[in-house]
Amino acid sequence: MWPTTSPPSAFIERRRRLQAKLKGPALFVSGFSRPRNFAGNRYPFRAESHFLYLVGRTIEGAVLLVTPDQALLYAPEPDPEEELWTGAMPSFDELSEAAGLSVRPLEELEVAPDTVSLPAQDWDGALFQSELLGRDIDPGSGPEVEGATAALADAMIELRLQQDEAAILQLRQAAWATAAAHRAGLSVTRPGLREAAVRAAMESAFGEWGYAASYNPIVTTRGEVLHAERSDLVMRNGDLLLVDVGAETPEGWAGDVTRTWPVSGVYSPTQRAVYEVVLSAQAAALACVRPAVRYLDVHRAAGRAMVSGLVDLGILRGDPGELFELGAAALFFPHGVGHLLGLDVHDMEDLGDRAGYAIGRERATRPSDRYLRLDRDLLPRMALTIEPGFYQIRRLLDRPEEVGALEPFLCRDVLEKFADVRGIRIEDDVLVTEHGSEVLSADIPKRVDDIEALAREARQVAN
Ligand code: GLY
Ligand code: MN
Ligand code: MN
Repeated sequence: MWPTTSPPSAFIERRRRLQAKLKGPALFVSGFSRPRNFAGNRYPFRAESHFLYLVGRTIEGAVLLVTPDQALLYAPEPDPEEELWTGAMPSFDELSEAAGLSVRPLEELEVAPDTVSLPAQDWDGALFQSELLGRDIDPGSGPEVEGATAALADAMIELRLQQDEAAILQLRQAAWATAAAHRAGLSVTRPGLREAAVRAAMESAFGEWGYAASYNPIVTTRGEVLHAERSDLVMRNGDLLLVDVGAETPEGWAGDVTRTWPVSGVYSPTQRAVYEVVLSAQAAALACVRPAVRYLDVHRAAGRAMVSGLVDLGILRGDPGELFELGAAALFFPHGVGHLLGLDVHDMEDLGDRAGYAIGRERATRPSDRYLRLDRDLLPRMALTIEPGFYQIRRLLDRPEEVGALEPFLCRDVLEKFADVRGIRIEDDVLVTEHGSEVLSADIPKRVDDIEALAREARQVAN
């Protein structure tokens, strides 16, 4: 499905809701594309997410000014010199119609001294913002915002935490394109090919429908590297391939899905056994997702299920509840069970933990909870991920200071039999509904039998 654009009414309504929260003027910059290696060779432009939320168009170097009474977009005038190279830019009238507001030339922008703005994430954007505001802005200093800027951050968080109809449609489309990529990736996976071949097939599958990647794709047989950046290894029979790939709509809405499938098309008995444990941990977490539940409890439900499954496999010994309290989950599942999802794959992480953590809550220091990016009480229309994993990470398992008091409960001889399980993660995108949840990425197979059947089908078609 070619992605649709949200109607102007969606942006008008978002800006109206923001206006109702504002006490003075607020300014949003779209930012600039970043140079790859020299000024004329640049990364594709992707506007700042707060700007996209309120305008929906990726207009480089534009500024949205919102006051309690009105919203105006200031954009650079179409440059005939530039058009020679990159084609016609949308006219002010076209922009005005798409975003539902008046558009003026950037030169006419006047910034009042009490104007607030959230720090842009790139240096050029921050520099431009500093010039407009007449004060220094550090890119990425969102987490430390204070005073009126903090009030603007909180207003944006309040708006963006609960997705509106237009956003939900965008998230559904991102999930659709993400599903197309995962099906393509599974069907081309073969021993002897490089991981990069799967990655290319996945990016092509959403690229041909007009979507981009919402983050750098992770396609690796070294699944124990949580955010592996390389895909240059040859895949072998017996390997698992961990694939964490998500599509982004042109309006900037993200998908974020992980599957772990066998390169041969069939899981070994040990891989299957651990896979089922991770799947049960994911099911336990998913079963908790509904309004008013604290996300830390969703995370802990996954950890408890993981520990109990590992006791069943004989990898851990002891009482699962006690082992969980001792922190056994973190030995194999050291990250959080998920995060907010929206315009950013980790939504609003430009504001640090301000979006993910409710006021009065801070990250726990326990190893099993310290990487948890979200700990709010869930609300209807929040979008988030659920992504437990099992990893054999040598720097955790081989270090006495990491294993600590858990050593007597860790059956290393049994664990050795699971050497062909380096890393398994299963991640879905989830919308909190009025009474429960909806898995937006439900079309992407994750049961062992379904994955093996799809792999079989792909091989039959190829032969
Ligand atoms: N793809 C990054 C994450 O799952 O958080
Ligand atoms: Mn994720
Ligand atoms: Mn992911």
